[in-house]
Parts: sequence; C-alpha cells; structure tokens
Amino acid sequence: MQNQDSSDKLPAHVAIIMDGNGRWAQARGLSRSAGHRAGADAVRTVVTRCRTLGIRHLTLYAFSSENWNRPRAEITALFSLLLEFLQQEVPLMEEKGIALKVFGDVDGLPLAQRTALRHAISRTAGGQHMTLNLALNYGSRAELVRAIQSFVRDGVRPEDITEASLAARLYTAGQPDPDLLIRTSGEQRLSNYLLYQCAYSELYFTPVAWPDFDESQLDAALAAYAGRSRRFGKTQEQINGC
Ligand code: FPP
Repeated sequence: MQNQDSSDKLPAHVAIIMDGNGRWAQARGLSRSAGHRAGADAVRTVVTRCRTLGIRHLTLYAFSSENWNRPRAEITALFSLLLEFLQQEVPLMEEKGIALKVFGDVDGLPLAQRTALRHAISRTAGGQHMTLNLALNYGSRAELVRAIQSFVRDGVRPEDITEASLAARLYTAGQPDPDLLIRTSGEQRLSNYLLYQCAYSELYFTPVAWPDFDESQLDAALAAYAGRSRRFGKTQEQINGC
C-alpha cells in the first residue's frame, strides 16, 4: 500500500535499521552487550517520540535471521534485553494504545521470548494509536518465500497472484509500506530488510550510532523526509497537476 500524500507531512510508517550498538560500545571500552543495552534505551526514546508525534507505524529491526551467527553470549544478552523490554514496556504500551506485532519466525525464538511476545501481542492488540512492529528472527527473502509457499499451499491460481494478494501474505499485511527507512551508523544498505515493502521508501542514512539516536536525531530524519519529493514513477508535472 502506498501512502501517496506525504511529501511534506509526517510519514505514516517509519522503518529503522538500528545499527552501531557494537561500535558505540567499543568506542567507550564497553562490552557489545552494554551497547545493546544502550540501544534498548534508544528504542524506548524513539517509540515514545513516534507516539507523541502521531506516527502510526514503526518497524524496528531488532534481530535478523543472520544474527544467529553472532557470539552465543551476545545473542543471549539480546534476548534478555528483549524480555526486559517487554516486561517493562507492555503495560505502558497498553496504556498508550500501542499495538505490538512481530515480523519474523517467532517459532524459532527461545521459549521464554516466544511466550512473552505472544502475551505482549495479545495484551496490546487493542492499541489504536500506533503499531510497533519488531522484526525478530526476520529476513525479507524468507518472508517472500513464506508468502509464495502459502499461495501454493492454498492452491491459488497464478492469475490470482497479484501485488495486492502478495502484500496480504507478508508480515506487513494491513499496514502501509514504509514511507521512510532510516539506517544508523553510516552503513548504506538494506540488509535483507523489508525489500518488497521498501520499493518506494525514502532512504535516510545517518552516521550517528543507534544508542545516540535520540529525539533530535529522529526529528532531523523526519525533516529530511518532509523535504523530499515523492513521485512514485510519475513526472513532477503530473504530481503538480493532480
Ligand atoms: C546492530 O548493532 C543492532 C542489533 C543487531 C540489534 C538491535 C538491538 C537493540 C537495539 C537492543 C534490543 C532491542 C529491543 C527491541 C529491546 P551492531 O551490534 O551490529 O553494531 P555494530 O555494527 O557496530 O557492531
């Protein structure tokens, strides 16, 4: 789904690749896990700011399917932070009308995280103000394969496979495509994140490490987005004429 009317407005959907926790920690002589803890604090800050500003959908890349290749201790630290985050934030999310969703293979997560996520999803399901999507054990190519497998499993005829019917089988079903994709810490790549959904997203790369990405950093990204001219393949004259 395209958000056509957004060139000088707030994005309806912001997606973020939260990068640089490790480098942030290393620069301070801290452990990578300490970097992730500071990253979790930045998650709280950014979720709160998005909720205040009225951004309706926020998707955070918290653990990719490739992150299993990291040292065991780091993976354990990331999953403990996730549990801690859910324990602390879910009551607040419920109060603030924020619905939690997970993009990715939840069944591949450890039992405690699976259970906490299912509880958090059902407890916040009524949230009307904002949807917080956590991409966990997520990979965009796997998401597309999963959608294609479901077409085959359901016996869908080739002519009934459309962009809309495919979108309805992605984790983002029912939500607009990201208008703005932010990646922190200087890298300029998509890393298997929402490849189909980001076809027309505005990209914003910042050298700031994720733990330092605060309200003012988010506001700067939103200001850059507001200054972009989104054309979706049309000419500027066509845009001006409609
Ligand atoms: C990338 O930094 C970050 C991650 C792989 C994980 C993101 C996790 C968090 C922000 C904290 C926990 C999240 C929640 C939702 C509670 P990196 O380690 O790849 O940094 P580097 O490239 O500098 O090494």
